[in-house]
Amino acid sequence: MRRPSMSFVKPKSILSTILLVCCMAIRLCLCSSSVVSSLKALHVQGQFSFDGNEFAATDFGNQFHFLPSAVLHPKKVSDIAATIKHVWQMGPASGLTVAARGHGHSLQGQAQAPQGIVINMESLSGQEMQVHRGKFPYVDVPAGELWINILHECLKYGLAPKSWTDYLHLTVGGTLSNAGISGQAFRHGPQISNVHQLEVVTGKGEVVVCSEEKNADLFHAVLGGLGQFGIITRARISLEPAPKMVKWIRVLYSDFSTFARDQEHLISAENTFDYIEGLVIVNKTGLINNWRASFNPEDPEQASQFVSDGRTLFCLELTKNFNPDEATKINKEIKSLLSQLSYIPSTLFVTEVSYVEFLDRVHAAELKLRSKGLWELPHPWLNLLVPRSKIHSFAEGVFGSILTDTNNGPVLVYPVNKSKWDNRTSFVTPEEDIFYLVAFLPHAVPSSTENNGLQHLLSINKRILNFCEAAHLGVKQYLPYYTTQEEWRSHYGPRWEVLVQRKSAYDPLAILAPGQRIFQKAISVL
Ligand SMILES: Cc1cc2nc3c(=O)[nH]c(=O)nc-3n(C[C@H](O)[C@H](O)[C@H](O)COP(=O)(O)OP(=O)(O)OC[C@H]3O[C@@H](n4cnc5c(N)ncnc54)[C@H](O)[C@@H]3O)c2cc1C
Ligand SMILES: *[C@@H]1O[C@H](CO)[C@@H](O)[C@H](O)[C@H]1NC(C)=O
Ligand SMILES: *[C@@H]1O[C@H](CO)[C@@H](O)[C@H](O)[C@H]1NC(C)=O
Ligand SMILES: *[C@@H]1O[C@H](CO)[C@@H](O)[C@H](O)[C@H]1NC(C)=O
Repeated sequence: MRRPSMSFVKPKSILSTILLVCCMAIRLCLCSSSVVSSLKALHVQGQFSFDGNEFAATDFGNQFHFLPSAVLHPKKVSDIAATIKHVWQMGPASGLTVAARGHGHSLQGQAQAPQGIVINMESLSGQEMQVHRGKFPYVDVPAGELWINILHECLKYGLAPKSWTDYLHLTVGGTLSNAGISGQAFRHGPQISNVHQLEVVTGKGEVVVCSEEKNADLFHAVLGGLGQFGIITRARISLEPAPKMVKWIRVLYSDFSTFARDQEHLISAENTFDYIEGLVIVNKTGLINNWRASFNPEDPEQASQFVSDGRTLFCLELTKNFNPDEATKINKEIKSLLSQLSYIPSTLFVTEVSYVEFLDRVHAAELKLRSKGLWELPHPWLNLLVPRSKIHSFAEGVFGSILTDTNNGPVLVYPVNKSKWDNRTSFVTPEEDIFYLVAFLPHAVPSSTENNGLQHLLSINKRILNFCEAAHLGVKQYLPYYTTQEEWRSHYGPRWEVLVQRKSAYDPLAILAPGQRIFQKAISVL
């Protein structure tokens, strides 16, 4: 067996740092041109591009921009295997890395490969999706496929995936490498809990089919694996009968404890809603008026007297799926469920939309933001998983304190039950049964020095993280971003050894997903 030759950069002095950087620079320059010629000689059915690759140095976060030496637009899985095998055979000295790029909706360059090779997974999406009906329906999809396309394909058979993300213009490979968490996760688990089988190209260029039964360790490794163990090329996703319509409900609370108690009640109830999320609203004017555009107040008169200005409010967001012939029954069920809750009575807002309209709701918002030039901005997002016993301390320290307004983008808060997560995957959760996803999702106005400027928003994130650290809240980052190996170790905690073991089994040269900055390809020149 080959000895794993990945290593971590731990410069001992300034001199060795400088040396290291110089050597890396020289080597990367040398390799850049030889990479180009060696890739040109490689037989693939798709193609490599060596110019015009700026798109591969950009992502949704819009803060990190590293150009690759080449982009592979694969036509077949064998193109990906041949490319990785080629890099594997070049050995550690080349320093060459490979990153799969889904839809490039990472936040801090995670899908980039500085001077390396980016694989544009979406060009694989031409391959067919195959829906299988029956008692336990599923769909086989290429990993570069967008969830929105999968939804439309499955709906032709009256079926749909069970667990979603809030936004569907993301690829299967991209969300399965993280987790895929949304308002259905309390019931179905995250997307990584709803996959039966994967096809993966490992860091040695081997194509492996894996599942719970076959190559189970690789299967669990890649789920939530941040692209570290292989490139997912196909996935088999669990389906259910698709509802036609959705009742979409919003209610407000002024007290976090009551809000959280109701959320926890709903996620553990036997008969409950189909989607449960929540939002924090800090110092927003005209909130209710904004809602009126798409939601109907249950009591228009009372609702019109409700004032949001300056306050910190908590919005519980719920849906119930139904088919048109069940409308009466569903209304009764909803009434009964709502009667168990303690929201501010005048703030009940309801609307009815198609299932697709509901699932694709963020895309509708995207189109509006794009038209105002507010989409392609820096997104200093911060996603945290907070254990239930600490969520009240968290809320008290952050909402309305460190966070003084939510006018730059939404802040989500909702609980999930860990029993729906498989602890054999690479995903890291807090230690408690129930934990909350808290997502700060602002956009920054580039050269602004006001509250909406990038530096200001980054400093708020820093303050939130420092607060969690100082108060020992046991918080884990979701879509994690760290700059040192110490932080990664502490993120993984007792699971770090498993991670390293899996890395040396499936990507021993640390070729894959360098943008996560967990492992560094071995530097043989030193
Ligand atoms: C508007 C918006 C809304 C979002 N909402 C949610 C949400 O509700 N819930 C949630 O969980 N997340 C959400 N996300 C986060 C999203 O899941 C991640 O950003 C994800 O990485 C995006 O997928 P992508 O296809 O663009 O992946 P990319 O950004 O292209 O890739 C992400 C990482 O996975 C690796 N990777 C990509 N494809 C593969 C593959 N086939 N095999 C192996 N590794 C691969 C990349 O190298 C990179 O390291 C949201 C993001 C945005 C921008
Ligand atoms: C979480 O789920 C498990 C398993 O279904 C259940 O036993 C437990 O009561 C749930 N926890 C809460 C707080 O709902
Ligand atoms: C709330 O926002 C308004 C303007 O949007 C601002 O003038 C006011 O100072 C803010 N209040 C707090 C408590 O931050
Ligand atoms: C994983 O969960 C199972 C029960 O679902 C438990 O028996 C096991 O100890 C857990 N393993 C770890 C490493 O936490």
